[in-house]
Amino acid sequence: MRGVAAGPPTVKSPSGRTRANTWSFSKVEDTKICVVMVGLPARGKSYIAQLAQRYLQWLSIPAATFNVGNYRRNDAPQPTADFFDFNNPEGERKRRAAAEAAVADMLAWFRTGGVVGILDATNSTKERRKWVMDTCTAHGIEVLFVESKCDDEEVIMANIRDVKLTSPDYRGQDPEAAAQDFRNRISHYEKVYKTINADEDEDNYTYLKLMNVGKQVIINRIQDYLQSRIVYYLMNLHIRPRSVWLSRHGESLYNLSGRIGGDMLLSPRGELYAKKLPDLVRESVGDDRPLTVWTSTLKRTIATARFLPPHYNQLQWKALDELDSGVCDGLTYQEIKDRYPEDFAARDEDKYNYRYRGGESYRDVVIRLEPIIMELERSEDILIVTHQAVLRCIYAYFMKKDQAKSPWMNVPLHTLIKLTPRAYGTEEVRYEAHIPAVSTWRGKGSTAKHENPTPESL
Ligand code: ATP
Ligand code: F6P
Repeated sequence: MRGVAAGPPTVKSPSGRTRANTWSFSKVEDTKICVVMVGLPARGKSYIAQLAQRYLQWLSIPAATFNVGNYRRNDAPQPTADFFDFNNPEGERKRRAAAEAAVADMLAWFRTGGVVGILDATNSTKERRKWVMDTCTAHGIEVLFVESKCDDEEVIMANIRDVKLTSPDYRGQDPEAAAQDFRNRISHYEKVYKTINADEDEDNYTYLKLMNVGKQVIINRIQDYLQSRIVYYLMNLHIRPRSVWLSRHGESLYNLSGRIGGDMLLSPRGELYAKKLPDLVRESVGDDRPLTVWTSTLKRTIATARFLPPHYNQLQWKALDELDSGVCDGLTYQEIKDRYPEDFAARDEDKYNYRYRGGESYRDVVIRLEPIIMELERSEDILIVTHQAVLRCIYAYFMKKDQAKSPWMNVPLHTLIKLTPRAYGTEEVRYEAHIPAVSTWRGKGSTAKHENPTPESL
């Protein structure tokens, strides 16, 4: 297998101790993959591309998307459908130039350490695919074609209505005329479009073909670990409307005394939150939407979820347990600073990567949350009752928070967060229970037991 490191390399942790690197990074660092999107317009290619990029970046795998449409817009900002007529030499020339510019930028990006470059274009002809394949291969880059095929008229119309009419291509135009023009654009593509391996002469390509939003899937010649992770992730995506609700457990006895970790029960105010949670959920979810509830295996999340309606399915996940603070479990931040001053400073220096002695780092938590994210993508409405650090990691995935910032984010107790994935981005609504609780947020350098969050941590 090309591009896979022989064994996990070791890296110096901020505290000076060496540690084995995480698999997600160690195995991919020599690999370069170009994910080449394929499909007619309005088939969800950009949608799939941005989710793949978000997932990979969340796993610390350098990923970037090169959208040929954006390059084309430099030269042809608002073209009408005839620009896309394959018999229009001017249109052909400009479209080819845009593809070449995108690929040139992508190759330059790979040279700076990029691992997964996503080429977002229709790549709808065999000739175009061969050109991308040859160019990438010549530069030592693996190619994974990802085709979205969809003949469900309702889905296509919804895509045009929800996404295409707001595209810069149609800014300021009459929606009906724009929709008709976009349909004409699709017709031009249909005349030349060949699904991958239609003529059985692309059988040597590595590809994933998603038919009607994953109802049917074809996988061909997947070569290595990272490719298989990407393929598995993309197979799990769906576009049915759904939300994910996130809550921390109610205030715990350790929260009150400013201690970290442990397996304590709830404080009296934490109990009040547990009793109030069903109302908050009802207000946000409604009465008749079936909801699945996931908790960690620790007492405080299970206790928080225990008054939720019995017809909600409940599941406990070890992967949702709080970040393991190792030898610091049960200590206050002041005690950590007194006993392990170097560690205390190292954690503030690089909170995402710092691993507690005998415990975990935020980076470790992200890696163990990967199956949770995979399951979340497959699922519909889910409520997750978990812990501060874990919630930050899940939130960072949906909201694309960067790693340096996410461990410092304020996630208040006694608040329900509703996240709703949309075509481009995630919508957020917060519901406060209005039950007072201590703040467990801590600013850099501070050892305060309870501290008010600063505005930039919100
Ligand atoms: P274009 O070629 O014009 O750039 P596109 O194929 O990139 O079009 P998108 O802009 O990604 O299309 O379309 C977004 C819409 O596609 C969203 O509304 C999303 O719900 C929907 N979508 C996501 N995945 C799929 C899929 N596998 N098949 C069809 N539609 C999908
Ligand atoms: O203080 C509550 C808590 O859930 C601890 O158990 C955990 O160690 C901590 O938050 C994680 O937050 P931070 O990474 O900011 O220390």
